Amino acid sequence: MTKIRPLRLGVNIDHVATIRNARGGMHPDPVRAAKMAAGAGADGITAHLREDRRHISDDDIARLAREIDLPLNLEMATADAMLAIALRFRPHAACLVPERRQELTTEGGLDVAATRDRLSRFVAELGRAGVRTSLFIDPDEKQVRAARSVGAPVVELHTGTYCDATGTARISELERLRRAASLAGELGLECHAGHGLSFETVGAIAAIPSIVELNIGHFLVGEGIFGGLDSAIRRMRALMDQARHQKSA
Ligand code: PXP
Repeated sequence: MTKIRPLRLGVNIDHVATIRNARGGMHPDPVRAAKMAAGAGADGITAHLREDRRHISDDDIARLAREIDLPLNLEMATADAMLAIALRFRPHAACLVPERRQELTTEGGLDVAATRDRLSRFVAELGRAGVRTSLFIDPDEKQVRAARSVGAPVVELHTGTYCDATGTARISELERLRRAASLAGELGLECHAGHGLSFETVGAIAAIPSIVELNIGHFLVGEGIFGGLDSAIRRMRALMDQARHQKSA
């Protein structure tokens, strides 16, 4: 019987802060959402402290670090100011992402080969502080190999193109994700995935055996409006586990 590798769920609470910030004030509180996620079966909390602070604030990060028992995964741009913040809070993990001010969300993966020196420095400095660093990359062989070469212990594969695609384009993007995940495993990299995942798209990604963590946010917060955040997270968790077990049976 094949050994089933556990699949962790990191719940990204950025968009609870987006709603809060639409009016200012404290409601809804992303830290309360993080506590609810913990109770609903999340294995970790993910938050993206963007340079323009459009959702998560510095104070949110301080409170998450202080009040949440689950591992915190800090998504951040490769900017020195962000590095200083990460070194101050020392989250369990940091996920380095490309960031442009005008984008609505993280639009693509890092070009690791083109920013090798900077990424090597970030991975090394964070690693020395005990922060496990992942690089958010497109499911591309060149990027996986480059991530290995800058010393990153983890890659997170961008699933946004897969989620947005339909028909044969979706099938070929899924194949690209499978190949990239398998290469990451062969190179000794821990493999995560995320972006745009929903109840409909999560199963195929959860079934890829070398992926060990999914980071999911926007869909869960949106779905929470209709059926509650707790129930959305529980259902996502159940769909992930089901897909994982079916694949490995
Ligand atoms: N992983 C990374 C690296 C991201 O940048 C994001 C978006 O902040 C996510 C996962 C979660 O994506 P979504 O909110 O679409 O589920």
